[in-house]
Amino acid sequence: MEKIGIFYGPAEGSSTEKVAQKVAEQIGGEKSDLVPVKDATAKDLKKYTNLIFGISTVGKETWNGDPPPGDWDKFRIELDKTDFQGKLVAMFCLGDQITYPRHFADALGMLAEKLIPKQAEIIGYVDPNEYTFEESQGIYERKFIGLPIDEDFEAHLTDERIRNWLDRILPRFK
Ligand SMILES: Cc1cc2nc3c(=O)[nH]c(=O)nc-3n(C[C@H](O)[C@H](O)[C@H](O)COP(=O)(O)O)c2cc1C
Repeated sequence: MEKIGIFYGPAEGSSTEKVAQKVAEQIGGEKSDLVPVKDATAKDLKKYTNLIFGISTVGKETWNGDPPPGDWDKFRIELDKTDFQGKLVAMFCLGDQITYPRHFADALGMLAEKLIPKQAEIIGYVDPNEYTFEESQGIYERKFIGLPIDEDFEAHLTDERIRNWLDRILPRFK
């Protein structure tokens, strides 16, 4: 298997960073690189056929004005410059299903909207029945288009969720 690029944001003590590190640990060995998106460019993305993207959902409607720009806002432009044909992309997304049940893990949908038209092969869909929520922009074909992780209310399930997800996606990587 070629090395996996784990591109994640926000960085610096965020839950997303914690989960990205857990993902890398569970993959094990030297089989992945952890790349904070705040410093990354399209050139970095180009190096990998196998990609894992990590993001968190910080809903716009919870702010009085626009939310402060996050690491992914800048990196989105780098996604636009990237040719995803032939690349395999799996995504995980931090969210909180109890406080934000109508917007749970919405950021998955934001990433999917970018990646689908660019012909990325998205792997690692997840059964929504494993969560308690009402609506999410991350649902495609009745499944989450990536792995939601709820560190606020179900942190005890995080390790197991990562394990089950990796068991399914690692054999798919090239
Ligand atoms: C202001 C604010 C807005 C949030 N909005 C959402 C939301 O719309 N949907 C959701 O699933 N989680 C939402 N969350 C929960 C975060 O996604 C969750 O706490 C996550 O673990 C944060 O990860 P981070 O530290 O990597 O940013 C919100 C959290 C905050 C503080």
